Amino acid sequence: MSALEAGDVMAQVELHCLRVRNGFRVVDLLLSEPERHRAAAFRSIEARRLFVAGRFLCRHILGSRLGCAPQALSIATTPSGRPYLPDHPDIDFNISHTRDLVALAINHGGRIGIDIERHDAFSETEAFEIMPMILSEHELDQVRQLEPRHRRDAFLACWVRKEAALKCLGLGFRIDPQTVTVAPNGTTPSTGDREPGASIFVHSGRLGDTEAGVFEWAVATSKPISQPTWRHHEACDSLRGILWNLE
Ligand SMILES: CC(C)(COP(=O)(O)OP(=O)(O)OC[C@H]1O[C@@H](n2cnc3c(N)ncnc32)[C@H](O)[C@@H]1OP(=O)(O)O)[C@@H](O)C(=O)NCCC(=O)NCCS
Repeated sequence: MSALEAGDVMAQVELHCLRVRNGFRVVDLLLSEPERHRAAAFRSIEARRLFVAGRFLCRHILGSRLGCAPQALSIATTPSGRPYLPDHPDIDFNISHTRDLVALAINHGGRIGIDIERHDAFSETEAFEIMPMILSEHELDQVRQLEPRHRRDAFLACWVRKEAALKCLGLGFRIDPQTVTVAPNGTTPSTGDREPGASIFVHSGRLGDTEAGVFEWAVATSKPISQPTWRHHEACDSLRGILWNLE
């Protein structure tokens, strides 16, 4: 285990994840005023914890890469809710959270979107009901041709690729997901008649184990990248703002 150090060389794309354990608390001073207000507005403790953990992770990692204290990092938000670094337009990042896991993707020199979903996010029946709202007709046909026991997994894998692409584009589900089709790896989505020519490159996979939980993930970038690898972290003393790199 080694602590993250300021000035670490920035890879083209970095993927980081932090498992949020019960009792995770972040000292308020680590967050900006708007972040503190937003955190206070969550009704659900779990949702609040995930939001705070996301900001904790990105302030630490981005701060260490940029050589500034986590609380000194300026994070702004677009009208559609996408966070960005106003003082570093060459660095893009994106956050995703589900259950007790927070993921952060950083791209140096291009846009990025990430999505993670827990493998048991919905039952087979629920997946069957949601599919037509998310998948294009062609994708729906492909999923329906699979054996029933494989359909939910295929849908989930497609879901995370789409959501990562929509987050990379910056509008999230303001774009109808049925109009965006994303093939498994390193390909360009068809986005209906929106943004003709906008290329998105997608990498995806599975994370975790049966004990800690299995997660489907996808990362979408505006430029091609090599297969990214994950770095796992633990908030060993979130009150003092210390983050440890496990791998
Ligand atoms: C982006 C979106 C698909 C994320 O859905 P989600 O179920 O919250 O999924 P995730 O956990 O994967 O992602 C959440 C993170 O995505 C990021 N995000 C929010 N809006 C985003 C956007 N428009 N584009 C890219 N990323 C976005 C944020 O970092 C957010 O985490 P944070 O609020 O803790 O910082 C969904 O929020 C959406 O479609 N938003 C845009 C449309 C909208 O209605 N916005 C209203 C709020 S202004």
